[in-house]
Amino acid sequence: MKLLLLFSFIACLLVAATNAASNLVCYYDSSSYTREGLGKMLTPDLEIALQFCSHLVYGYAGIRGDNYQAHSLNENLDVYKHQYAEVTALKRKYPHLKVLLSVGGDHDIDVDHPNKYIELLEGDKVKQTGFVQSVYSLVKNYGFDGLDLAYQFPRNKPRKVHGELGTAWKSLKKIFTGDFVVDPQAALHKEQFTAFVRYVKDSLRADGFLLSLTVLPNVNSTWYFDIPSLNGLVDFVNLGTFDFLTPARNPEEADFTAPLYEPESQNRQPHLNAEFQVNYWLQQGFPASKLNLGVASYGNAWKLTAETGPDGTPVVRHTVGAGPEGLQSQKPGLLSYPEVCSKLENPQNQYLKGNDSPLRRVTDPTKRYGNYAYRPVEGAVTEGIWISYDDPESASNKASYVRSKNLGGVALFDLSYDDFRGLCNGDKYPLLRAIKYRL
Ligand SMILES: *[C@@H]1O[C@H](CO)[C@@H](O)[C@H](O)[C@H]1NC(C)=O
Repeated sequence: MKLLLLFSFIACLLVAATNAASNLVCYYDSSSYTREGLGKMLTPDLEIALQFCSHLVYGYAGIRGDNYQAHSLNENLDVYKHQYAEVTALKRKYPHLKVLLSVGGDHDIDVDHPNKYIELLEGDKVKQTGFVQSVYSLVKNYGFDGLDLAYQFPRNKPRKVHGELGTAWKSLKKIFTGDFVVDPQAALHKEQFTAFVRYVKDSLRADGFLLSLTVLPNVNSTWYFDIPSLNGLVDFVNLGTFDFLTPARNPEEADFTAPLYEPESQNRQPHLNAEFQVNYWLQQGFPASKLNLGVASYGNAWKLTAETGPDGTPVVRHTVGAGPEGLQSQKPGLLSYPEVCSKLENPQNQYLKGNDSPLRRVTDPTKRYGNYAYRPVEGAVTEGIWISYDDPESASNKASYVRSKNLGGVALFDLSYDDFRGLCNGDKYPLLRAIKYRL
């Protein structure tokens, strides 16, 4: 009897061990090195995270608009100040860690060549060879373990849930073919992307370098990813399952930006949630174990108006674009997790009034949609704000979801927006830790 118990105990342990998701892919945006003040993340700050990460994705390289060669977007730091070499050298201290170089990632903004990513796909072999050889050299010369393609495809067009057009518009849309046709050549670009990835993979194969894909937020996988063919070419895929709405794309309405499931009712678009995206990849036959769920370590903030009213329940109407930029993030509407947490009630702000008063925090007992926090325009408050964000608890829920679906793991975007200084409650990297403990 005792023996039987022991056996079943061991069996349980084995099951638990195989169920554990193994990937925690950490994105590292090296431009965080050059931020001012508390947002400045140096190599020793980065290093604290590495015990938790299975992969570090180093961003970002871009492509040159004239000859399509890959190059660092921050050459001064990455190359001349040796940040590439310094980071890949950390593998000696953390031998489990794989470091990949990422291309694109929405950081390669080039007003003179806005279509260069599509041009490279459409281009002849000469253009592509320029890219492939140059990116291979970067990976090889600086000691990376592989390459991540965070390819900058055209985005879904945003759509309003509320508004006079509402359902009438929706039925109109069914009559006309166009769901705002973003890319009339999408089918061709999808085919070309597969061929391109194959070419890249061929160049990396001899050295055993890894190849991963990042599906950037609002890039429609149906349009651009031939999932069955890509399966044989890539080691894993990281889904950008956040920023489904942003103040820049959806200035007049605020909503959960990274829900796990579709919030019920209210005529939302059914594909703007993690569950839909994950299921889409699985239904296309992509192995769950190679799929990583993206979690953002920052919140999206909208500016509220008096018309919004006192109720913060999403979908929130009458917003006017991005809330003020964070002191550290320096990006309108984007607040790093420590910036969000500093606005929630704490000993420093609990008695402050008006525009400095703490935000009302609304957590999600259903664990399906995520948290939000807000301060409506009323009384002495003239600067209303509404923020959708993940905290350690909701990030940990996402890790549970990953386990329940037997996915490969979580991809955190990115380390520099997590609380790497431990300003919120003393723990450094609270989001990263919460995810790691749950996986
Ligand atoms: C791509 O967009 C179409 C049209 O809006 C939508 O029906 C489809 O679900 C989207 N695919 C994914 C994977 O989001």
